[in-house]
Amino acid sequence: MTAKHPSEVPSIDLDDIGYNKTSNPSFSDLVEARLSRRNLFGLGVGSASVALLQACGGGGSNGFIPVAAAAPAPAPAPAPAPAPAPPPAPAAAKLGFTAVPKSLDDVVSVPAGYTASVLYRLGDPIATGVPAYLNDGTDAPASYDRRAGDHHDGMTFFGIDASNKWDPAAAARGLLAMNHEAITALFLHPTGQTIVGTGNAAVRSVAAEVQREFFVHGVSVIEVAKSGTAWNYKQDSSFNRRVHTLTEMQFSGPAARTDYLKTKFSSDGSRTRGTVNNCANGTTPWGTYLTCEENWAGYFRRIAATDNPNRSAKEIAAFGRYGVAGTGRELWATVTPDTSDNLYGRWNAEVISGAASAVDDYRNGANAYGWVVEIDPFTPASTPKKRTALGRFGHEGACLGPVVVGKPLVWYMGDDAQNEYIYKFVSTKAWNAADINGGIAAGDKYMDDGKLYVARFNADGTGNWLELALGVNGITAGNPAYAFADAADVLINVRLAADAAGATKMDRPEWTAVNPKNGEVYVTLTNNTARPVGGTDAANPRSYNDPKGPTQTAQKGNPNGHVVRFADAGGNPAATTFKWDVYLFGARSTASADVNLSSLVADNDFSSPDGMWFSSATAGLLWLETDDSKYTDVTNCMMLAALPGQVGDGGAKTITNVDGATSATQATLIGKAPGTDGLRRFLVGPKDCEITGIAESGDGRALFVNIQHPGETTPAANIGDPTKFGSHWPGGGTSRPRSATVVITRDDGGLIGL
Ligand code: FEO
Ligand code: CA
Ligand code: CA
Ligand code: CA
Repeated sequence: MTAKHPSEVPSIDLDDIGYNKTSNPSFSDLVEARLSRRNLFGLGVGSASVALLQACGGGGSNGFIPVAAAAPAPAPAPAPAPAPAPPPAPAAAKLGFTAVPKSLDDVVSVPAGYTASVLYRLGDPIATGVPAYLNDGTDAPASYDRRAGDHHDGMTFFGIDASNKWDPAAAARGLLAMNHEAITALFLHPTGQTIVGTGNAAVRSVAAEVQREFFVHGVSVIEVAKSGTAWNYKQDSSFNRRVHTLTEMQFSGPAARTDYLKTKFSSDGSRTRGTVNNCANGTTPWGTYLTCEENWAGYFRRIAATDNPNRSAKEIAAFGRYGVAGTGRELWATVTPDTSDNLYGRWNAEVISGAASAVDDYRNGANAYGWVVEIDPFTPASTPKKRTALGRFGHEGACLGPVVVGKPLVWYMGDDAQNEYIYKFVSTKAWNAADINGGIAAGDKYMDDGKLYVARFNADGTGNWLELALGVNGITAGNPAYAFADAADVLINVRLAADAAGATKMDRPEWTAVNPKNGEVYVTLTNNTARPVGGTDAANPRSYNDPKGPTQTAQKGNPNGHVVRFADAGGNPAATTFKWDVYLFGARSTASADVNLSSLVADNDFSSPDGMWFSSATAGLLWLETDDSKYTDVTNCMMLAALPGQVGDGGAKTITNVDGATSATQATLIGKAPGTDGLRRFLVGPKDCEITGIAESGDGRALFVNIQHPGETTPAANIGDPTKFGSHWPGGGTSRPRSATVVITRDDGGLIGL
């Protein structure tokens, strides 16, 4: 029989799964602590020591922004068609557009006076000789390593100067590096995935379909340029590159070349093939791209009932903590016959009968994923490196903190699954600006040696960074839940190490962003359906029902999410204490006061914050994107512009959480309500999409945004009837929907959002 894989109807968010079964209290010693404004304000905000700041993620002027800098210098690139001089940047940022209404239309809506143009769609060719995408499932599978991937996600703009070097201020030409997180398989093949059999016996019977899927995951690097007022990508640029699940990569840092990473492909544990489920991103001050591996665990086949008897208790504990079990979401391991280099079998993480040791199969295959991967976009032939010092988990993104010459570098990172943690990595080496344009070698210097920490949020508005290293914070061979053997064991099983240290379970940490005005760090906590009344804490304080649609279907826990923010003590990113508050709570504007805690109104209400990035060109301007399935009875996903204040600009609040007959109070700290001057809806996407990935040109006058998986919940049975697709964006008519990058410009050439 032929069947459709359940993942073709992804009504369930694959991040919306938790493997944190520890009794790690969310706020162990915090319950009895009293909220104290004296403590809250006692730790000091970002100070003058924050001299130079680096934007993460989106790029743009992502080199060095003096705190009080003027607008960046204009780029040297030629302007083929003279345009009227754009208006100057205002002295103080103020949102200057009319809010976009919530919408269920199958279009991208932006404010009056702005234009959103489609730039780079699934399947678009990025090499000479590759034909235009047919978008009917018949494009040649072998061509997909030279086409745009699917599910565009995190993204950085690297400006290029006339000598082809990185120039963060470049306004008219650059490289866009972007992630392709996953696939909407239904629209990739003639009639979706061909699957024979069911359950554990289900197999993919068409190898060519799987080949397409291998290629459309990963990363794109494309050259983009402005001609007149229009932006286009350059199909024949020598910079264009696809990194995908077959691209050879090296391991670097403490876990490289250890037994844990030995496979049949790499008997010394130094190499692997490919990257997968690349979600959010990050940058470095030397001009490379960081792509982060998020929901990698689900790609592996490992039937626990038959594999566990061949495993040690420690291995079983590790698989359980990361969720490595099942048939593999795309069934890649099931293609027969396998190739001599195990293109399919490498996705089987079981101990294979007859294999004598780890170098004879892929029993360690899952250890090769879950890392932050560094790519040098300026050197297309360079080998990406998986930076093991930053730990292995469900990496959402890696946001670079303030960059100060002579000080360590820091990256802030979320682990996106229910009740997971927030981390930071602090380099051992101090930053030397001579390493700009240093490529992967600079990464070896700063990213292979440092300290990894996990966050604990205390109820009094303070927090602690708990070091994750062998021998500290309970991370020892004597730890009852997991006996840590060595430094590599800690990094590969860092969730278990964070459990031992007593980290705070968060409501699904997504993107991290650093405010260039003061160095404060923002983290989107998208939602958590597994946060019961009675299981809240000060930093994850809500549990309620958000009834959806005409039937008022119950949505419980923290369905709409929030944004937490913190300031490392003394403005020092290497500090081990911080102070925090909740910047913003997602909610329907019509919700009760105990739910709509940020007093959102029709022009700025939202649910499930995910992508988030501070502009480089306009200091203090925050972009917030949603990946939502809770408010979709009213609106498609969206992007908002915000001008946040600072930690402590609001105050203490005690809320009442209710679930039926159960209720409980919870004290928290909440930022000043933003009003529409501080938060305003800027964009609404097409049907069934996520808005994610954001970057800007070096002058802030072009904004690049990704529209991921329009129409993704189209039932597999509808593939034969185009009138029943969930979306036709961007092609319109009866076309299949495609993930795509759009570029947004202001019709008068001004700064975006002001
Ligand atoms: Fe891939 Fe957490 O979103
Ligand atoms: Ca995300
Ligand atoms: Ca998400
Ligand atoms: Ca998504």
